[in-house]
Amino acid sequence: MRAVILISGRGSNMQALLRAGLTVDFRCVISNRPQAAGLAIAAQRGVATAVVDHEAYPDRDGFDSALAAEIDRHAPDLVILAGFMRVLTDAFVQRYAGRLINVHPALLPAFPGLRTHERALQAGVRLHGCSVHYVTPEVDGGPILVQAAVPVLAGDTPETLASRVLRQEHRILPLAVDWIARGRVYLGADGRVVSRDLSGDPEAALISPADGLAVSQAEASDT
Ligand code: GAR
Repeated sequence: MRAVILISGRGSNMQALLRAGLTVDFRCVISNRPQAAGLAIAAQRGVATAVVDHEAYPDRDGFDSALAAEIDRHAPDLVILAGFMRVLTDAFVQRYAGRLINVHPALLPAFPGLRTHERALQAGVRLHGCSVHYVTPEVDGGPILVQAAVPVLAGDTPETLASRVLRQEHRILPLAVDWIARGRVYLGADGRVVSRDLSGDPEAALISPADGLAVSQAEASDT
């Protein structure tokens, strides 16, 4: 399977993908920001990089056309939004229907959009987490491939919660890409995720909150 990764900044999810030892040919990492730190990390790992700077285009259509042209040079089977912070036009999303996925830092459909950790704390939820989903024109609204939950702990700040969630993002994004590469999940014609042969996989449904708590306790005992 050939894949292209889109980033906007730090690139830790991209790094988790590149480190995971997947049977995936990562053809290129593309950033909409020239200064994205993830570009250097990809280059160090020998992965081709490209920049399509959104500021160089007068409107979303122009940017999305240029982005699609760069993506299509690599003829990917899968396009992975890994911390890509631009809203994409419907035309772009439809062009890659069924082969465009995103990692989002919340348990969708709760908290689509930005500032998810701050909003989760304000809402007083006891569970928070992350989701990997197929991208549809509704922002953060597409069919969900896999989710991981973590506990919200007393004294959490948006930063402590974000780091607990990010550790789980780094697990579920490679997991989802691996499933897709192996043909174990795909987007069905009815717009729902079809999964095959996942019944024996303990991570198939939901990565458990208890695991998130164990991670938190390990973090606490590390300090
Ligand atoms: C991640 O937490 C990702 O879920 C989020 O941005 C961060 C990027 O970190 N994405 C979104 O909010 C998309 N709406 P990274 O660059 O270190 O992977």
